[in-house]
Amino acid sequence: MSTVQEKIELMLQKKEHLMQGGGAKSIEKQHSKGKLTARERLNLLFDEDSFVELDMFVRHRCTNFGQDKKELPGEGVVTGYGTVNGRLVYAFAQDFTVEGGSLGEKHAHKIWKVMDLAMKMGAPCIGINDSGGARIQEAVDALSGYGGIFYRNTKSSGVIPQISVIMGPCAGGAVYSPALTDFIFMVKNTSQMFITGPAVIKSVTAEEVTAEELGGAMTHNSRSGVAHFAAENDEDCIDQIRYLLSFLPSNNMEETPRVETGDDPNRQDESLNTLIPDNPNAPYDMKDVIRGLVDNGEFYEVHQHFATNIICCFARFDGRTVGIIANEPNVMAGCLDVDASNKSARFIRFCDAFNIPLVNLVDVPGFLPGVDQEYSGIIRHGAKMLYAYSEATVPKVTVITR
Ligand code: HXC
Repeated sequence: MSTVQEKIELMLQKKEHLMQGGGAKSIEKQHSKGKLTARERLNLLFDEDSFVELDMFVRHRCTNFGQDKKELPGEGVVTGYGTVNGRLVYAFAQDFTVEGGSLGEKHAHKIWKVMDLAMKMGAPCIGINDSGGARIQEAVDALSGYGGIFYRNTKSSGVIPQISVIMGPCAGGAVYSPALTDFIFMVKNTSQMFITGPAVIKSVTAEEVTAEELGGAMTHNSRSGVAHFAAENDEDCIDQIRYLLSFLPSNNMEETPRVETGDDPNRQDESLNTLIPDNPNAPYDMKDVIRGLVDNGEFYEVHQHFATNIICCFARFDGRTVGIIANEPNVMAGCLDVDASNKSARFIRFCDAFNIPLVNLVDVPGFLPGVDQEYSGIIRHGAKMLYAYSEATVPKVTVITR
């Protein structure tokens, strides 16, 4: 019978071992792809020494295909909570070094727990995805794990901010948890999202496409609109997430955080008097107008590369967050089309859910005429934008710039 001291020693050794995830070789492989490990990502995300890990010792109970002989440290996912800029945040990060970050029953249960805690505490939940998808050996237990995540994503929607981060593969049904959340970040060259990969597409439709072209960061940021933010690398991505959180309340019952910006709310900006051209057909850069209006000219664009005929961004007036929706006369004369309608509708609904006032800068010739637009359903997509504006109960201020 070992003494308590021996048991504590054993536990600490086990913990030290589990902290290595899939081991030195897998970590090296992860780094060689230009990716950080799950724990490195969480350490960067959270304020120094604030991260508290949960359920590190959890083990799977699968006996199929010799899985019972396998040790999967942390079940391939690191979960827990900590502070970001001093505010409580929950997170999970899939650990690709452990069986490709694949999602089995217990892996899912760890994620469910942080999602439940985030809801209970009214704090944002951040999911870092880097995974081969459903753990094949666990079959339907893995699929049921996804079901529980989708359910929690849906229940949390509009109650706490949910942010998904794609930092590796995210394929098949696994893409739908990110799609149910408020924002998706992707890292250039190291992250991909698709329902079916290039090989399956080739065999079914004979189309040839690389994984990056099919589902890389810029594909989803500029073409499909699936992702909202693109980052150069993991570090840049985590900086951007921390920045986004600085604009958001922790939940739908809270007001947005007040930041001391040092910008005088009564400041006059003379450049705004000459920015709009006299010629009504001449374009101008609406972002210059935004820069002139908001605190310190600073704003953070959502969907910066998608439907660029409309701008959606977070900014501050007198230190308080606002959501700005602005037509961009520089792109398609600022016409509203299917993509612009979807982009703005979603942004408006997010702002409404999280007590973020809306500032509208309007210079719009109207909806884009064209057979293609009509066939693409501009009527139903345009209606989403009108619905979102009508439904919103946050303050709405509109400036007609021309
Ligand atoms: C079990 C998996 C796995 C999975 C990867 N691994 N994906 N184990 N289930 N889904 C294991 C590999 O066997 C390998 O183990 C280790 O993780 C690292 O994987 P590699 O293949 O060596 O890595 P890489 O070359 O970088 O390729 C990554 C990959 C590839 C592209 C993700 O692993 C892959 O195609 N995986 C399968 C993807 C898939 O079909 N998933 C199911 C999707 S369907 P060893 O022991 O060799 O190190 C789905 C349904 C969800 O998710 C439905 C929700 C409704």
